[in-house]
Amino acid sequence: MRPVSRRDALILGGLGLLGTATGAFGLYRQMGTPSGLAPRTGAGFSEPETLRSRGGRLDVRLRASRSRHLLVGREATTLGYNGGVPGPTLRLRPGDRLRIDLVNGLEESTNLHVHGLHVSPEGNGDNVFVEVGPGTSFSYEYRLPDDHPPGLYWYHPHHHGTVADQVFAGLYGAIVVEETEPVPVTRERVLIVSDITLSGSGEVVAPTVMEQMMGREGDLVMVNGQADPVLTARPGERERWRVVNACTSRFLSLRMDGRRIRVLGVDSGRFAEPRPLEGENAVLAPGNRADLLVTAGRGGGDLRTLPYDRGGMPGGMGGMADQMPGGGPMPGDGEPVRLARLDVTGPAGEDLPEAPAAAASRDLRGAEPVRRRRLVFAMGVGGMTRGGDGPGMSFTIDGREFDADRVDQRVGFGTVEEWTIGNDSPMDHPFHLHVWPVQVVRRGGRRVPGEPLWRDVVGIPARGEVTVRVAFDDFGGRTVYHCHILDHEDRGMMGVVRAGR
Ligand code: C2O
Ligand code: CU
Ligand code: CU
Repeated sequence: MRPVSRRDALILGGLGLLGTATGAFGLYRQMGTPSGLAPRTGAGFSEPETLRSRGGRLDVRLRASRSRHLLVGREATTLGYNGGVPGPTLRLRPGDRLRIDLVNGLEESTNLHVHGLHVSPEGNGDNVFVEVGPGTSFSYEYRLPDDHPPGLYWYHPHHHGTVADQVFAGLYGAIVVEETEPVPVTRERVLIVSDITLSGSGEVVAPTVMEQMMGREGDLVMVNGQADPVLTARPGERERWRVVNACTSRFLSLRMDGRRIRVLGVDSGRFAEPRPLEGENAVLAPGNRADLLVTAGRGGGDLRTLPYDRGGMPGGMGGMADQMPGGGPMPGDGEPVRLARLDVTGPAGEDLPEAPAAAASRDLRGAEPVRRRRLVFAMGVGGMTRGGDGPGMSFTIDGREFDADRVDQRVGFGTVEEWTIGNDSPMDHPFHLHVWPVQVVRRGGRRVPGEPLWRDVVGIPARGEVTVRVAFDDFGGRTVYHCHILDHEDRGMMGVVRAGR
């Protein structure tokens, strides 16, 4: 556990008071009562339906609604696209046009964001300022540039204030942009990791105010809506696992024991050579994706996620838990969770050629940025929670909460900028910028050596800072950057950037 500094203790202490003050508001869910619904584990691995582009186009209808269906092998009532969790996987190629008719069958507003895709944020493109009211629909059109980076992306709602609730309840799906020269594998799989808390009757359990401030983590960690499914392969077969962390707040720290597993890349970045699944290459903040290469060995292996200390508030931190009513397990305290099992049986599979080397990626370290900015993520005690259900904490960037009508950063179209993201709080905040991927150039003031490191979600450690460079190419317009702990985003940890000429 991290030591608690005096300043952090002040924030934490404030939160403790706040807990006392708002105990009556159900700040704490009964701790130690895990999900009421016991999951059925060990089912055969399954994937959502795949919809593939043809002749440069893909037209899809996505209907968001609440429905009763099978989740973790049980009957549950969740949100979903087209009646399932996750929604269909969309497979595209660079240069494609994608049209999504989003039909809102919910009782509240929603909208859609294509996370990580490098497409226009304007009009009916990847425009998160669009609001799709209940019972209405909206047609999104996206045109992928011809040189769009291949890789795994995903879609989820982005209507400010309800993003965490809607994602947590089941609204997400994967997008694959294929490469022209695919990595030779026996098979490819998409693994969408998400978490949820379900009551005994299979309803989604709402988080407490405290859990929202921490960033809620569900009791059940699922892969494609299943609990600990079994994948089967033959010895020597090679698989490509495209993993997305669709959890609302949970960081994943992936491990696979005893097997040969390597990382081809994270987000849209691809390493020149596959790397071992360890250290920072194994950590997926909410929103991050990993592209994994798994060679099946006899006996198989388990894919697990280890507890990850993303800092936080009370609970196991310097005895703060004792001062909290009902203070209980906090992120980082838990046990490893098995996500899936690989079962390897049968005669040996055929040998495959090595993965082709990745094309060298762009490096902005040689460019002179036209402008350097500093953004500061912070948390403060005070302010009312949304809905006025009691005092809360404020989640700000540069001291301000999100305002859709304000432009926080004006950047020049076609320019390279350097942004240093500081974190003046005791928790990690994963920084995410829409439309433009970022190159991580310094961490805690230290240069990032070696090949360029591209991400679209970057964890900013508690009391730390990370410097990125961004090339505002291709698209002008207005979009957002925010913390991808979706509860924090909904509470205001988001800003507006406008790229103009
Ligand atoms: Cu994955 Cu602005 O979000
Ligand atoms: Cu995004
Ligand atoms: Cu955050």
